[in-house]
Amino acid sequence: MKALLIHLFSIWILLIQFLHLGICGSCNSLSKRCEMRTDKLDKLLCNGGFQKNYLNSTSVHPRIIVICQVMSSSFDPAFISNFPQLYRLSVINSPNISKFTQPFPNHRLQVLNLTRLGLVHLHHNTFEGLINLRTLDLSHNKLKQLDRHIVEHLSQLQQIFLRSNNWDCDPHLKWVLNPLLGKKLMDANQMTCGVSKYKGKPVLAVMSFIKNLRNECPKIDSKSCNCSLDLIVWSPNKDYLVPVTTVNCSRLDLDHFPPSIPSNTTTLLLTGNKISDISPLLTNPKYLDVSDIYLDENQIFNIDKLEGADWLTKFRVFSLKSNKITAFPTFALENGFRKNSQIGKIYFGNNPWICDCTFTPSFKDFIIKYNDLIEDIDDVRCAFSEYDDNSLKIISELSLSSVCGEQGSFLSPLDCLNVLLASLIVFIILKLLYDYWCYKSSGKLPWIITKIP
Ligand SMILES: *[C@@H]1O[C@H](CO)[C@@H](O)[C@H](O)[C@H]1NC(C)=O
Ligand SMILES: *[C@@H]1O[C@H](CO)[C@@H](O)[C@H](O)[C@H]1NC(C)=O
Ligand SMILES: *[C@@H]1O[C@H](CO)[C@@H](O)[C@H](O)[C@H]1NC(C)=O
Ligand SMILES: *[C@@H]1O[C@H](CO)[C@@H](O)[C@H](O)[C@H]1NC(C)=O
Ligand SMILES: *[C@@H]1O[C@H](CO)[C@@H](O)[C@H](O)[C@H]1NC(C)=O
Ligand SMILES: *[C@@H]1O[C@H](CO)[C@@H](O)[C@H](O)[C@H]1NC(C)=O
Repeated sequence: MKALLIHLFSIWILLIQFLHLGICGSCNSLSKRCEMRTDKLDKLLCNGGFQKNYLNSTSVHPRIIVICQVMSSSFDPAFISNFPQLYRLSVINSPNISKFTQPFPNHRLQVLNLTRLGLVHLHHNTFEGLINLRTLDLSHNKLKQLDRHIVEHLSQLQQIFLRSNNWDCDPHLKWVLNPLLGKKLMDANQMTCGVSKYKGKPVLAVMSFIKNLRNECPKIDSKSCNCSLDLIVWSPNKDYLVPVTTVNCSRLDLDHFPPSIPSNTTTLLLTGNKISDISPLLTNPKYLDVSDIYLDENQIFNIDKLEGADWLTKFRVFSLKSNKITAFPTFALENGFRKNSQIGKIYFGNNPWICDCTFTPSFKDFIIKYNDLIEDIDDVRCAFSEYDDNSLKIISELSLSSVCGEQGSFLSPLDCLNVLLASLIVFIILKLLYDYWCYKSSGKLPWIITKIP
């Protein structure tokens, strides 16, 4: 009987606790209030903000404070100074809180849970006074950046949670790759970027792409190219990420291709340099996968070498505007083009193209055949020449007779010879007939016969 009573009593206690939790342990109650739980832990639950009437009360010594559903847009953490025994503070489920009005005061707090707020930016000294802090939860906020000093200066910090924020994934965030700091990040694999160009992509992968890119970005004779990660896309099977990278080495006075470029470079800009030799496109395997190459405003005069280059079968954009190219064997490029299914744009404008009867006919056929790829077809013109009527004329509109001469209007030397030979034959036949007639009518032999002995 006694045992039963004790049982019933403990069930009743549990029920009371359960109800108590149901009211105070949830943030869903509508009223704005703080309530103390003194049973197991000294836990203060506040809904709608912290109430100041607890400040002067000497009887309350909470070790845990949970504050939720705060309406205001900023939060003042100074009150924790009044609770020296406090070791865990949660300010949660208040998406209107975007900032703290001041840094946290010096305090021996160990666990700080700031999940599901609307924090956008944290000043680097926000948590500096919390020298005993071991766990910091900043998940489900709107943070774009987190200064590495915040993590570095908290010497006791063991766990930090940062998933579900709007990480901008710019180079400042690369501390997440630091082994010492990174191992404190409990949810690093769930962190994703929030900026549009990397939206939804894992922070760790993006930061390691950025880090590699920085290390590999070419520096040539103290001049640096500008390398940027433009986009990250999933592979067709969604099993790995593919970086879309631009390496801009424009206007650096280079007279050769950079000997090495970052792996996975997609676009290479070499505009406005002094490059004349394009053989790295054939010989340097680093260039094989570069799909867009801009070589405008260089000194290139010869692209014959590209015949048979594997690169021609893979590229997407090839720009050779404003170089010194006069001609090239069109079949050499065509072979590559035929095998290339992703070819997108070609630029050939502002080169001093030769306009003569040997090169121009095949070149004109070539640019007309590929006119939907040659973006600057109206700039593909004959070289400037004072003495040529075709100077600076658009090659795709050039009449071939103007480079090769019009058929029949003028006689070529060979035609003249033919006419001469034909008239000689006619003359000889007529002479033969005349001689025959003379012989028949007068018996006179031609003069030439009388002279032959
Ligand atoms: C707390 O006590 C101080 C003086 O001890 C007083 O100035 C202050 O107004 C009190 N605060 C509240 C909220 O009662
Ligand atoms: C956030 O603030 C708006 C008014 O600015 C208010 O209507 C809303 O209820 C607040 N949300 C929360 C969760 O406090
Ligand atoms: C912070 O609070 C939320 C909501 O109560 C909880 O889900 C989460 O686990 C807490 N974080 C830590 C590190 O305890
Ligand atoms: C590199 O390019 C980016 C964007 O294209 C630009 O913001 C940055 O200033 C450039 N850096 C240098 C060193 O030119
Ligand atoms: C280049 O991309 C491949 C996947 O396409 C990846 O495995 C590799 O790590 C990348 N290299 C660098 C340096 O980012
Ligand atoms: C490449 O760099 C040059 C010179 O720094 C700059 O003028 C140009 O706008 C850049 N191009 C791109 C696409 O970033």
